[in-house]
Amino acid sequence: MTDSDQYDVVIIGGGPGGYNAAIRAGQLGLKVACVEKRKTLGGTCLNVGCIPSKALLHASELFESARKDFAGLGIKATVELDLPTMHEQKDKSVETLTKGIEFLFKKNKAEWVHGAGRIDGPGRVVVTAEDGAERTLNTRNIVIATGSEPSRLPGVEVDQKRIVDSTGALAISPVPKRLIVIGAGIIGLELGSVWRRLGAEVEVIEYLDRTIPGADAEIATAFQRTLTKQGMKFHLGAKVTGATVGDDGVQVSFEPAKGGEAQTLQADVVLLSVGRRPYTEGLGLETVGVEPDRRGFIATDHYKTTAPGVWAIGDCIYGPQLAHKAEDEAVACIELIAGRAGHVNYDVIPAVIYTFPEVAWVGKTEEELKAEGVAYKVGKFPFTANSRAKVNHEGDGFVKVLADAKTDRILGVHMIGPSVGEMIAEYAVAMEFGGASEDVARTSHPHPTRSEALRQAAMGVEGWTMQA
Ligand code: NAI
Repeated sequence: MTDSDQYDVVIIGGGPGGYNAAIRAGQLGLKVACVEKRKTLGGTCLNVGCIPSKALLHASELFESARKDFAGLGIKATVELDLPTMHEQKDKSVETLTKGIEFLFKKNKAEWVHGAGRIDGPGRVVVTAEDGAERTLNTRNIVIATGSEPSRLPGVEVDQKRIVDSTGALAISPVPKRLIVIGAGIIGLELGSVWRRLGAEVEVIEYLDRTIPGADAEIATAFQRTLTKQGMKFHLGAKVTGATVGDDGVQVSFEPAKGGEAQTLQADVVLLSVGRRPYTEGLGLETVGVEPDRRGFIATDHYKTTAPGVWAIGDCIYGPQLAHKAEDEAVACIELIAGRAGHVNYDVIPAVIYTFPEVAWVGKTEEELKAEGVAYKVGKFPFTANSRAKVNHEGDGFVKVLADAKTDRILGVHMIGPSVGEMIAEYAVAMEFGGASEDVARTSHPHPTRSEALRQAAMGVEGWTMQA
């Protein structure tokens, strides 16, 4: 063993959990290596997730806007889709951002060890490079940040051409005439929106009798109504039982979730988006006695697994499978390793759906507050009454603030509307400070901005909304 193979922390996985952990460890002066087998850092999020999907969402939103809204604004334009260039600009953005992480690693003295990492007993990680060469890293701490992969559905075989998952859906070409989306979660509705804007007829089949499980029900209903107006079709309470690829496309079979007669639909491409499962296979967990649960999740207590010196963060542990949650856990975990007081407030993890309009929320839903028996007040404000949204012809949506009936403390905020994904952080900050709705209501907001709707909704909690 050489000195260079002895580390304070070895992180397995270079996604938002792993790369942020590596950077933070470097900042705190720990000798750190991050093991990643992809050709680029950034994990699912940067390579085949958040980043490329947002590139396509942005471009397709502008495409649709140019086709449908420009004329009404007094702009004459002939608009034509150039899908290869749209994909190319997405790929370039991904490349630039993944390179950016390599730069941050160098800047913070975090080492990227290329290859697949496997735990090999306490304090040892064996890395197998692409050419089969093995290297053993000895370390005081191992952080598992291996993330997740798309869940599969029996009878629906992903081939990334006719039947795609979230990765294949980022590279579809040409635009399919008909796209069937299985699962009305965030991935299905974001990527379904991309391909609908680019010209596909999109039908969504969802097992539950609602869309976006986990979101506030009132918001989910409004969101589904908006997407329907935009041309998406929904089959709710419907369970997909199989998909068969033939010469003329894919035939998808489904039946009512509660039982009943089966139906079929034909499509050119099918997107399977029924959730993500932890990616912990082949990790050597058994060599340190860590046993994932039946679904593959690793149980932790403040990121400590049952094995001393082995920690886990991100999508492979419990909680929302979101990049920023993994990032928060990365910082907390490394700070704990460094003997500091790492902490994540799971009551204040915002969520965003990057469609148009956007959906964003933080904190408790009304359903959760009811189930917990918490007395709460509601303040609401529609974007139709917000001047900036109005002049931009973006009046669809509303803001809903839920505050404790006695103390006025903000408990949850749910929004659908223009740019709400950028604005939700205002409420996240207010909630982190233990803020009351009155704090937001009495904070000056610039006029004319969409953010005024957030203030007006807060005023509504005490019944003094002024502009609606
Ligand atoms: P999801 O869990 O959000 O939604 C999957 C949906 O599929 C559920 O509504 C479920 O009821 C449905 N389903 C399951 N089996 C079915 C069947 N046999 N037939 C019909 N419907 C069925 O999962 P999704 O959308 O795949 O996303 C995975 C994860 O990635 C989520 O945790 C999500 O939060 C995260 N993500 C976050 C994004 C963001 O923050 N903007 C973007 C993309 C993903």
